[in-house]
Amino acid sequence: MYYIGVDLGTSAVKLLLMEGNGRIANIVSKEYPLYFPNVGWSEQKPEDWWDAVLAGLKELTEGFDKSKVAGISFGGQMHGLVMLDSEDNVIRPAILWNDGRTQKETDYLNNVIGKDKLSKYTANIAFTGFTAPKILWVKNNEPENFARISKIMLPKDYIAYKLSGSFCTDFSDASGMLLLDVEHKCWSEEMLEICGIKKKQMPKLYESYEAVGTLKADIAARLGLPATVKIAAGAGDNAAAAVGTGTVGDAMCNISLGTSGTIFISSNKFGVDKNNALHSFAHANGKYHLMGCMLSAASCNKWFMEDILRTKEFANEQAAITDDMLGNNHVYFLPYLMGERSPHNDANARGTFIGMTMDTGRADLYQAVLEGVAFAIRDSFEVAKSLGIDIKASKICGGGAKSPLWRKIFANVLNIRLDIIESEEGPGYGGAILAAVACGEYSTVEEAADKLVKVIDSVEPDAELAARYEERYRRFRQIYPAVKELFPKL
Ligand code: XUL
Repeated sequence: MYYIGVDLGTSAVKLLLMEGNGRIANIVSKEYPLYFPNVGWSEQKPEDWWDAVLAGLKELTEGFDKSKVAGISFGGQMHGLVMLDSEDNVIRPAILWNDGRTQKETDYLNNVIGKDKLSKYTANIAFTGFTAPKILWVKNNEPENFARISKIMLPKDYIAYKLSGSFCTDFSDASGMLLLDVEHKCWSEEMLEICGIKKKQMPKLYESYEAVGTLKADIAARLGLPATVKIAAGAGDNAAAAVGTGTVGDAMCNISLGTSGTIFISSNKFGVDKNNALHSFAHANGKYHLMGCMLSAASCNKWFMEDILRTKEFANEQAAITDDMLGNNHVYFLPYLMGERSPHNDANARGTFIGMTMDTGRADLYQAVLEGVAFAIRDSFEVAKSLGIDIKASKICGGGAKSPLWRKIFANVLNIRLDIIESEEGPGYGGAILAAVACGEYSTVEEAADKLVKVIDSVEPDAELAARYEERYRRFRQIYPAVKELFPKL
């Protein structure tokens, strides 16, 4: 049988057709626009996602035996606010995970309601990208839209709804709304009240590997797929990527280098760090995880290459960064192009180059960008270490993980081994695995990950280089506190 994983990302949707034995039969990608209507705002049209998914599903299954497609599931960009009215019309463009407009609402939640209460209700505190502050923002700034809300959902849930008619979400993605009591896996009555919404406006909660329904008859006919195709709830893209890289045991780690950069630590037990610097969320295997998220990771690379250097020759530019340059850069880059989430929680933070001299060249600046992203992930890694979590190795996935240079920088900045997986398609592969579990091809997510995910290569840190990066990282850490007061004035 075939299982489809839909990775609903920020720059594109990637669809993946997986055979029951884990072999990838086909991959299709469809881009859609991203809108920045104001400084720090970030929006997409759910209708664009739907068009891209429909076109992608058609293309993905073309030439394959469609009667063998058994299930579809998702890894979706998290936290985005999608609102439908009583006729199922999209009320306004979705407000995305990297949108920073809600500083006022975030401050209200953290300081007036209070971090202790938020943490008690949800296991997390407010960050500008989370869904609850966005609901408050709509309530405060667009009361006419707020009054029309019939259904609130996350990006991938909109696709599940269009495909199956089931108004659903899963625990991993719901964790990032700041509306879920993560420990007890139910909506928090207190948080719903604080946001002025009712339970009937919220989707039904499922485990990621549970079926929520089947393809609607008209959609099945349009796609030429059987109407018996099961739709599984799926997961937030980070939890799905963790499944896709086999990060499903206790204290296992995955680093994802997509538009965002995340460090994801799976855990069999619920746990909260007392400062809430890391998110405490449910995992797609029915358990839990801790996660740090930086808002601009591979997008810093893309920005510097395409918008600043005006080239797409990534390999050529990286070839100019020679081995002897690693760990010796005097230039530093703060990668906060969209503000920063973990660990600073500062929507006003901005990208910053510092340390240039007359002999600084193009390659030094580019190297600083790649290193700045690795240092920023190290910030969250340090928080995990301070909680007593001993990470000796990590998987790495996402577009950025394709670069051998960047992988080497990461292995040495973090001073851990990085394992490379056969399939780089973290969230898409994880989505397909969740569909396979929902259809009974495997009995648990762990069993499927164990059988299907293969490590094909590893990058070991080099003691001398890691020591040089240790020193550089100590400098990097001093820059943000030194300049942060300036950011809101810029
Ligand atoms: C995680 C987060 C991002 C998005 C990217 O908290 O905001 O990783 O999920 O799609």
